[in-house]
Amino acid sequence: MDKPCAAAAARNAAPILGVLRHELRECSTLFEIGSGTGQHAVTVAAALPDLEWQTSDLEQSHAGIRAWIEDAGLENVLAPMDFDVLTVEPSGKKYDAVFSANTAHIMSYVAVCRMFALVGAMLREPGVFCLYGPFSRGGAFSSPSNEAFDASLRARNEAMGIRDLDDLGVLAGENGMQIARVYSMPANNLLAVWTRTPPNCRR
Ligand SMILES: C[S@@+](CC[C@H](N)C(=O)[O-])C[C@H]1O[C@@H](n2cnc3c(N)ncnc32)[C@H](O)[C@@H]1O
Repeated sequence: MDKPCAAAAARNAAPILGVLRHELRECSTLFEIGSGTGQHAVTVAAALPDLEWQTSDLEQSHAGIRAWIEDAGLENVLAPMDFDVLTVEPSGKKYDAVFSANTAHIMSYVAVCRMFALVGAMLREPGVFCLYGPFSRGGAFSSPSNEAFDASLRARNEAMGIRDLDDLGVLAGENGMQIARVYSMPANNLLAVWTRTPPNCRR
């Protein structure tokens, strides 16, 4: 199969790698939700060979992800798991990190809530959740282009839409995570980092 190529994923791969290289410096295992084409997986995993990267997505994306993995020839990227946040049950396996890019505005809000619950269940303590994409903050869009993007998403499907980091912060808190850092990224995107820490480290 020809490798699917998302132009946005190619553009944002280097900035995302720049942040993940720092945030994942103490991580050995990572689970990615909604790997899409698989471009982020192979780009980051190639630069971080000691990190085992588990890809996942809905079944329809698996062939493309497999094509990227096979072409990259990386031993530290694992074949995609069938993982629909709406239906999957936590397996009990724990990861040092979870990463997801450009998923929260595509998923319904119910699915986003479920994603945070799953992340809380999957993360080790300490563990880190890195979520990349367009977000509003305090109810305000970061740019007119993000406001227009939100309107276009909602016109396409009323369940989609740019999420507010304050709302996601509440979901994170309900699932044992605290906000640690928010990075400004190119094209008015953000990369939010929540951590799950052992109880005796919480303030
Ligand atoms: C805009 S694409 C982003 C893909 C990739 N992460 C990227 O940044 O290029 C959104 C991804 O979310 C996945 N997705 C949508 N609903 C999902 C769900 N309920 N559970 C898991 N993944 C889902 C889609 O299959 C798709 O791969």
